[in-house]
Amino acid sequence: MELKTFSDHASLSAAAASMIIACVKRCPGALLCLATGDTPKLTYQMVVEYAKQEGISFEKCFFIGLDEWLGIPPENSGSCHYFLHTHIFKPLGIHPSQVYLFDALTRDEEAECEKMNKLIAEKGPVDLMLVGVGMNGHVGFNEPGTGLDTITHVAILDEVTRSVGQKYFQEKVSISKGITVGLKQVMQAKNLLMLANGKKKAPVIQQVVKQEISPKFPATIIRMHQNGILMIDSEAASAL
Ligand code: GLP
Repeated sequence: MELKTFSDHASLSAAAASMIIACVKRCPGALLCLATGDTPKLTYQMVVEYAKQEGISFEKCFFIGLDEWLGIPPENSGSCHYFLHTHIFKPLGIHPSQVYLFDALTRDEEAECEKMNKLIAEKGPVDLMLVGVGMNGHVGFNEPGTGLDTITHVAILDEVTRSVGQKYFQEKVSISKGITVGLKQVMQAKNLLMLANGKKKAPVIQQVVKQEISPKFPATIIRMHQNGILMIDSEAASAL
């Protein structure tokens, strides 16, 4: 793993956006797996800007979502579905046939996981995966205690995830379960970018970097990834 520290969120986002653009230049048919959340919002905005400036086409790429809140409809602005459409797919003009996101309203959770596993097996490995880190060290919805050999699964969300997750929603919602690409698939990505910014992530990043690599703190797995880059700003780096 490589650790890259940036002076602020803007320079971190610019670097992450450049890496996504470089990946698509290298491999126009790239399979990209993208997280949602406050951390990568600016990165996606910059990807859209750079793609326009440089005339980079994403029309041969395929996108998958990293995770989703089960039971939250796609039109809810707090859903991962809504986020990805708003911040990246619509602005880049991505056609629906280039995207596969989890169906949060599925009645068959097992089949929903199976669809993603099949898709990754057929189209994968993922060329570039961008993830954030939860306040409890989760990656996607791979919560503390998730096995390193886990593929796509439904997770019972822990207390930290449920309470922190309310920030994405305009009204109070019940978020008890998530569906997520598994840690094994995260590790199989050819390039793994893990982003964190801000003071509140400082103790989290300290654990990611210093704590033993363990399912107790899933984000520690970035340290085992051959092409893993942990990208943090100076605030998130302040406890290192
Ligand atoms: C959320 C998402 C993750 C995200 C993480 C960090 O709950 N499930 O995919 O990366 O937590 O979110 P944020 O960037 O808002 O801190």
